[in-house]
Amino acid sequence: MDLVIIRWPRKGQDEEQVSVLFGRCQHRGALMDDGHGDGDNLICGLHNRDYDYRTGVRSYNPAERLQRFSIWIEKSAQQLNNFFRVSTELMQVMARACGHDDLGKFCIDDLTT
Ligand code: FES
Repeated sequence: MDLVIIRWPRKGQDEEQVSVLFGRCQHRGALMDDGHGDGDNLICGLHNRDYDYRTGVRSYNPAERLQRFSIWIEKSAQQLNNFFRVSTELMQVMARACGHDDLGKFCIDDLTT
């Protein structure tokens, strides 16, 4: 299934919001990741239909919408973010243990020695 994932700041809140939308335009099925953002809208790259990235709904015709998978994915996105953050911290520790002052200097040879 094609999905588009968009992170956006909610006004007055520190926490970012995540919208996960069906990734195919409702007009002719173009991939929405070929589109672009404009204000609060995700614009289809083929014929410029606009969808509010917060809701997936078109302002011109609210009956047309990209299905939104928000609640389930938000929890998974947070867990994935935690996994990557902790993995990066672990790799930084391993790089320091190998005598590097920067994670970018850590290489495959460090793991085999
Ligand atoms: S396919 Fe997206 S607007 Fe036509």
